[in-house]
Amino acid sequence: MSNTPEQQKKKIILSGIQPTGIFTLGNYLGAIKNWVTLQEEYNCCYMIADLHAITVRQETAALRSGILDAAALVLACGVDPEKSLVFLQSGVHTHAELSWILSCYTQFGELSRMTQFKDKSARHADNVNAGLFTYPVLMAADILVYQADLVPVGADQKQHLELARNIAERFNAVHGNTFTVPEPYIPKAGARIMSLADPTKKMSKSDTNVNGFISILDDKDTIIRKFRRAVTDSDACVRYGEGKDGINNLLTIYSTVTGKTIAEAEAEFDGKGYGDFKTAVGEAVADHLAPVRDNFSRIRADKDALLAITSSGAEKALSITERTMRKVYKKVGFIR
Ligand code: TRP
Repeated sequence: MSNTPEQQKKKIILSGIQPTGIFTLGNYLGAIKNWVTLQEEYNCCYMIADLHAITVRQETAALRSGILDAAALVLACGVDPEKSLVFLQSGVHTHAELSWILSCYTQFGELSRMTQFKDKSARHADNVNAGLFTYPVLMAADILVYQADLVPVGADQKQHLELARNIAERFNAVHGNTFTVPEPYIPKAGARIMSLADPTKKMSKSDTNVNGFISILDDKDTIIRKFRRAVTDSDACVRYGEGKDGINNLLTIYSTVTGKTIAEAEAEFDGKGYGDFKTAVGEAVADHLAPVRDNFSRIRADKDALLAITSSGAEKALSITERTMRKVYKKVGFIR
């Protein structure tokens, strides 16, 4: 990011993704594809949320390669390090530093009400660690330390963003204006991609049924096979409508990857069966993802070049966030 006056006026966007497995078509269409679009209009900071990942036990070697995979995937999808900052969260120490301070401005009761904490502590009952509990405070620090204006998040992170806003407002009320209060960014084409095996559930990379999700690195045959198995209904009419979660999901996917409207897609498959439609969706998705796969193998193969990008991103991120930290330390009363 250079510092021409024009770029200084641009709003700041921050978002992050956890490095826990190859992204799904859902992550791609719901988040990363928007990251790519947003970088034309905003100053974007995109991070691999490795600190968040260890709130659930990770195997060391798997985490290490997962972090490299995630960084390579973000770039492979089209995030351009010349336009946006791309970095590893753990490489920018101000995130963890601000997180501690903000935790003293966050109430136990607020964190107890977070639905993701309740869900995850039920799912990982043997490891309900303090980090899992304070996870949203770290997320608030990620956002506030950049003075971010906008945060693109999915529905599952809305409550955390709301908390970040409350923490910012509370700190500002005590110490005077310090943090920008971030707004959620709702993408124009809000694609919420559902599981192919159970279209009432969000597509997830942790789904135990591999037919439920498309990995963005799946090969063409696998993608088509998974779409051909997608759960639909017995209506046999390619139309968007109530009670047709499976077809609605496939239409959303098809329209997002081809750029056609839902109505255009419906017209295209008028009178055709689900079999033809599913194959067409599979082919469109496979064609759309082919360049991402190629980019990924190239970028992931050169670890030094990849780390040069994330280190340079981290260096710039550090200098931006240290400005906020100086302000915060002063307001709190710390002596530097
Ligand atoms: N918690 C987010 C997720 O799991 C990832 C994340 C971490 C994030 N810090 C963030 C997203 C800051 C937006 C802003 O999806």
